[in-house]
Amino acid sequence: MGKALDGIRILDFTHVQSGPTCTQLLAWFGADVIKVERAGAGDITREQLRDIPDVDSLYFTMLNHNKRSITLDTKHPRGKSVLESLVRHCDVLVENFAPGALDRMGFTWERIQELNPRMIVASVKGFGPGPYEDCKVYENVAQCAGGAASTTGFDDGPPLVTGAQIGDSGTGLHLALGIVAALYQRQTTGRGQRVLAAMQDGVLNLCRVKLRDQQRLDRTRVMHEYPQYPDGAFGAAVPRAGNASGGGQPGSILKCKGWETDPNAYIYFITQAPVWPAICEVIGKPGWVTEPDYATPKARLPRLAEIFTAIEDWTKTKDKFEAMAILNEFDIPCGPILSMKELAEEPSLRATGTIVEVDHPKRGKYLSVGNPIKLSDSPTEVTRSPLLGEHTDEVLGELGLAGEEIAQLRAIGVI
Ligand code: COA
Repeated sequence: MGKALDGIRILDFTHVQSGPTCTQLLAWFGADVIKVERAGAGDITREQLRDIPDVDSLYFTMLNHNKRSITLDTKHPRGKSVLESLVRHCDVLVENFAPGALDRMGFTWERIQELNPRMIVASVKGFGPGPYEDCKVYENVAQCAGGAASTTGFDDGPPLVTGAQIGDSGTGLHLALGIVAALYQRQTTGRGQRVLAAMQDGVLNLCRVKLRDQQRLDRTRVMHEYPQYPDGAFGAAVPRAGNASGGGQPGSILKCKGWETDPNAYIYFITQAPVWPAICEVIGKPGWVTEPDYATPKARLPRLAEIFTAIEDWTKTKDKFEAMAILNEFDIPCGPILSMKELAEEPSLRATGTIVEVDHPKRGKYLSVGNPIKLSDSPTEVTRSPLLGEHTDEVLGELGLAGEEIAQLRAIGVI
């Protein structure tokens, strides 16, 4: 069976996390991804957070599956000429260098268009055009500048960054969608275009509901949905919501049996309005179904803290999986707090390919997250990340370079 992006060639100039996430997805959909790395060094993550000496780190291997790697000094005149051939040969150039790096290398948008008018040039940058466009940005900077940190954490604590890599991997996802859209448009225009995904914009897009609340609370001035401020007056900006859902269905993280020793013995519990009678039955408060102070969502809002305490008195008597099983019988939305260890061992995630075991010639077997997007006609087989420069000769051969030319480039350190 063919793959969705069969025949598409990606010149992958990405490094660290945001760009590699994007090109890994394209590779999983079948594109031929040629990762260009600096001769001798490669993507800096090959050596970051290493757990085995002299072996590509998990950071690198888990973000660069299904790609080919070539080494090339793109600042050397001979390297630049190879890069020109690659630009002519490929459909999409993806990069996440610091602002201006590609131009400084001599590969401006105008130059790339001269070489290949069909080429799509896709970039991750920290910020879009504006006061910060020249700044270098990493994950947590984007979380802070995109609105996530100011709305994450508890009301009595500082802003918090989250474990989900919404700035890097989130922006990589946004960029991948932009690339696929540009490839689609190219079918009618015959031309490439530039695709930009700024990390601040990507994070803000994922924080859309917080901009909703900024305007909503600014109008209503009352923060009913936040149990920690039942009737609190709205200040200037959306507060940190703690574990409140902040949405239409109040929710919270509650302790389960074993919480004293297990940091993840918790469950997320949602008091969805249609199942309120079932919740009252399960927690042993049948009177709350009809008592006016508890019977309607509006009446419950100022009492959320008391209600979640009563529910927690029940969840503390069950472990998180027992609680989940009972609550599911009543269609009460809830979810156990799963640790990375539990996720790694979860058989259903192995069965769907969301967690995969990959074999690597130097590190042996390791676990990775597979393709989270499943296409029925384009299944993903995850293959290991390339060693540095593993495919240099192969790719340069495809570009038409003869064996002696390749040997010469190697002798002068260009590849
Ligand atoms: N051959 C020769 N030179 C190469 C090369 C190659 N194959 N590949 C990269 N380089 C050069 C670049 O041209 C650049 O040179 P210049 O500064 O002289 O123009 C240099 O290597 C360093 O690139 P840069 O992107 O500045 O790396 P950095 O380590 O200093 O910064 C980031 C890293 C992530 C902060 C920066 O790339 C960035 O802000 N990227 C955009 C936002 C982003 O994606 N951030 C998230 C990363 S997960």
